[in-house]
Amino acid sequence: MPITGRNASLTRHNGGGAEGETFPMHKQWGGRFEGATDALMEQFNASIGFDWRLYAVDIRGSLAYAAALEAVGLLTPNECAQLTSGLHLVEAEFDAGGFVAGAGDEDIHTAVERRLYALVGPVAGKLHTGRSRNDQVATDLRLYTREQIDGLDKQLCAVQTALLRRAEEVGEALMPGYTHLQRAQPVLVAHWLLSLFWPLQRDRERLTQARQRVNVLPLGAGALAGNALGIDRQLLAQLLEFDALTPNSMDAVADRDFVAEVLFAGALIGTHLSRLAEDLILYSSAEWGFVTVADSYSTGSSLMPQKKNPDSLELTRGKSGRLLGNLVALLTTLKGLPSTYNKDLQEDKEPLFDTFDTLALTLPVVAGVVTTLQFHLERMASSLDDGMLATDVADMLVRAGVPFREAHGLVGQLVRRGEVLELPLRELPAAELVAVHPALTEHYESIWDPHRSVAQRMVVGGTAPAAIKVQLAAAHAACGITDDHVD
Ligand code: ARG
Repeated sequence: MPITGRNASLTRHNGGGAEGETFPMHKQWGGRFEGATDALMEQFNASIGFDWRLYAVDIRGSLAYAAALEAVGLLTPNECAQLTSGLHLVEAEFDAGGFVAGAGDEDIHTAVERRLYALVGPVAGKLHTGRSRNDQVATDLRLYTREQIDGLDKQLCAVQTALLRRAEEVGEALMPGYTHLQRAQPVLVAHWLLSLFWPLQRDRERLTQARQRVNVLPLGAGALAGNALGIDRQLLAQLLEFDALTPNSMDAVADRDFVAEVLFAGALIGTHLSRLAEDLILYSSAEWGFVTVADSYSTGSSLMPQKKNPDSLELTRGKSGRLLGNLVALLTTLKGLPSTYNKDLQEDKEPLFDTFDTLALTLPVVAGVVTTLQFHLERMASSLDDGMLATDVADMLVRAGVPFREAHGLVGQLVRRGEVLELPLRELPAAELVAVHPALTEHYESIWDPHRSVAQRMVVGGTAPAAIKVQLAAAHAACGITDDHVD
């Protein structure tokens, strides 16, 4: 099957050059070689099986490069026009799924050039003037990464939108907040949902910042020492919409920091999604019963007819492992390298592609799970217990002038008395309270309303309904969600 569009896989044509094409040399670098490459080595060396995805950016880079060659008189306007229309034809073949890789196509760069030669003839041999695959591949990868970051940003925004909508919908409903997975203090359900929103905001900021370092042009670095033929790098940057030029050609062909940064951002997104998933997996179990995952995002058991499993969320949690693995794989590859380009760098692509693919698949699923999630607000509220208001008792003593450390100890004594007398904290008799501290009796009754508890936490970033209103507005502003965006 030939490739179709940008997401299919590439098939190879095994019987030599496709459709009787003549290419002057089977390999771009074949001139100094006498012996043939071992068949297995050929396979080992090839990256076309995965880097064909760069075809559109590779062709875009070549179109700009042809224009830059013309600008310095290395191509006549006519030659440049031939190359340009030829490159468009090659792209159309890829787009339509009609491109068939030839047996000698080592990578996307050689494949495009071979096909160009078949379509426009010897003038194709002028395209690579002063260029190396070293600066070419670095350019392609930066163009591709830039495009993917923009898509990722939209998908992250969709998950944020889903969380924000649900946070608005649940109003002032309460739930237990946990630390160490133990009941800690009451919080608004909206507060918990927004706690999953902000990490994604930081992820988007991280990607935006990484994008600035991605958007630097390496083309013109040549193999390592720079272009000798006076190519105008500013013109290339302008044509390819890069913001800056790499300042050192040796660094330019070696630098994969931008890949590492994006893989780190991806690994951290995976970690954030994993936390969201883990919360929902726990909360959807019968033991919690706080939420129900929609049937559309659940699967069944082949053995137990009653089972409904949150596979969408388990896979989300599971995929964080491969996202982290991709980062580790790249850094491990990079750490042993000497300066400039080394073929090891070909190993940068699969982890990068996999991270983009994994996130492109996971993020819409997460957005769907959040959007279709059913909340059991009654059950959440009834899971609050008086013990979660023990801090409020200590705060009451603090307001009566007791130093907090002391107040903490006194409330601890109350908790212990409750355990001894087998009474909940709120039902301790007045005599017990007075025995611990006289100020305890004053407002003791009013403590046991969790709404009162949350309402006091009105600091910026706190869980009071008033603070949540401010937080919701901040969330809207931060992620740039408008109502059009949301619908
Ligand atoms: N396929 C190679 C890669 O992905 C392209 C660059 C090859 N450069 C070279 N000098 N062999 O890195």
